[in-house]
Amino acid sequence: MELIKKWTDDLRYLPYHQWDDKYQLFLNETIRKSHWRQSYHVQPKSGLLNDPNGFSYFNGKWHLFYQLYPMGPVHGVKSWAHVSSENLVDWQSEGIALLPDSPYDKHGVYSGSGIVIGDELVLAYTGNVRDADWTRTSYQMLAHMGRDGVITKDATPIIPAPPEGYTHEFRDPQVLFYQNKYWLLIGAQTEELEGKVLVYSGETLEDLQFEGPLDFTNQSMGFMVECPNLIFIEDKPVLLFCPQGLDKNIMDYQNIYPNTYVIADTFDGEQPALKNASSLSNLDHGFDVYATQAFNAPDGRALAVSWIGLPEVEYPSDSEGWAHCLSIIKELQLKNGQLYQTPVKELIELRQDQTSVSGKLSPKAAVIADKTNNCYELVLDFSADSQGRLLLYSDEEMEHSLVLDFDAKNGMISVDRTHVSNPFAQEYGTTRSLSLEENKPLSLQIFVDHSVCEIFVNGGQHVLTARVFPAENEKDVYLEGTSGDFSGDFWCLRNMKND
Ligand code: FRU
Repeated sequence: MELIKKWTDDLRYLPYHQWDDKYQLFLNETIRKSHWRQSYHVQPKSGLLNDPNGFSYFNGKWHLFYQLYPMGPVHGVKSWAHVSSENLVDWQSEGIALLPDSPYDKHGVYSGSGIVIGDELVLAYTGNVRDADWTRTSYQMLAHMGRDGVITKDATPIIPAPPEGYTHEFRDPQVLFYQNKYWLLIGAQTEELEGKVLVYSGETLEDLQFEGPLDFTNQSMGFMVECPNLIFIEDKPVLLFCPQGLDKNIMDYQNIYPNTYVIADTFDGEQPALKNASSLSNLDHGFDVYATQAFNAPDGRALAVSWIGLPEVEYPSDSEGWAHCLSIIKELQLKNGQLYQTPVKELIELRQDQTSVSGKLSPKAAVIADKTNNCYELVLDFSADSQGRLLLYSDEEMEHSLVLDFDAKNGMISVDRTHVSNPFAQEYGTTRSLSLEENKPLSLQIFVDHSVCEIFVNGGQHVLTARVFPAENEKDVYLEGTSGDFSGDFWCLRNMKND
């Protein structure tokens, strides 16, 4: 048997049960051999993962769903896969929660959110339907999960069509309860092809009124907005979203599409508007974050999880029949009016053997760790005069590696994929850089999991996420520089427990 290389629309939209079981077994077997699979990031057994959906806490557990196409590394007919956790670290697979099996979602159960109402976890999603001419219709749908874990879809949509003046690029409902009402935000496109976030409200989710487009900027948010997500941090509304086709003069970015946010003073749903919203910021300064979903957890934290992957980009693991994973869970906080993202404290549970490192940066590279299994956490603190570079995923000759250049003196950090093995997406540039305050100590907290690297700078002030697909001998970590001191810790991380 061979992996499918040519994906026609017919094949991508073939219902899963019509596939030969032998192909699925062959696919699983091929993927199992990969050395790029993650150990502690959520990923499906096979096929493609994209957006996180329905992130919630219900019935004593954390629940997370994600967009899944199980038959290959392509955007085929999507389901919601379900995982649950007691500690935000070990995620058990609960199988497929929502299949594309109704007349309102037969070409894909697209992204959405979850909200606990009474005894149920209510899931809001977009049903994607194509007609014979491949014209799209989008329906906003609900499903209900009881305490027994059984999920039932509603028979009819809560929003059967976009409002007048909008196209059927109309998806990714986020539901929230705020000031005694239910609110629903949707990513949308006007008939003039402008991206918008639309707002609905009502006493119940079955009886929603259209309030209008959310006013938070005078600038154009590109041709489409995907995955709008409103959360409240210390009472301030923070809107996360993905504008497609955003003018780079509005916000500079290099990825095909950015994942952005604004912070406002208040959410006025009747207008509807975010009052005094900040200008747009990039949520992640790396290469591969999209469709981040956050929610206000009952324990008071604002928790977020991202898709580590991008639409319309090919990745090296495609050749093995799989693509993408979710990020670790991040806590969102506001400090001095700025958004901070930090790994949730529960991740400490993954730490195993610890090694401490310290010294002066010198042009002769210091070995921070060698022959790792590329599954570790590395925390490094640098003095304010530090200048140097950290090589991750390096071979012994230091020919291939992911390079982190830093200059605390002049306030700069960059992540460089120019010299990695198995390069990809080079047309979007191979480096990502970030300005920092000058002459300030620099701290890095880095999570490496085989082909994923998440870098938290200065206690979560900035995050840079990158996929890297190393060759088997690229497992060393080196540090070199011209000035400054460093100290830190290295931990091997255990695998996620998922059975
Ligand atoms: C974002 C997205 C969503 C859509 C889903 C389909 O990555 O395009 O807008 O609901 O993926 O899988």
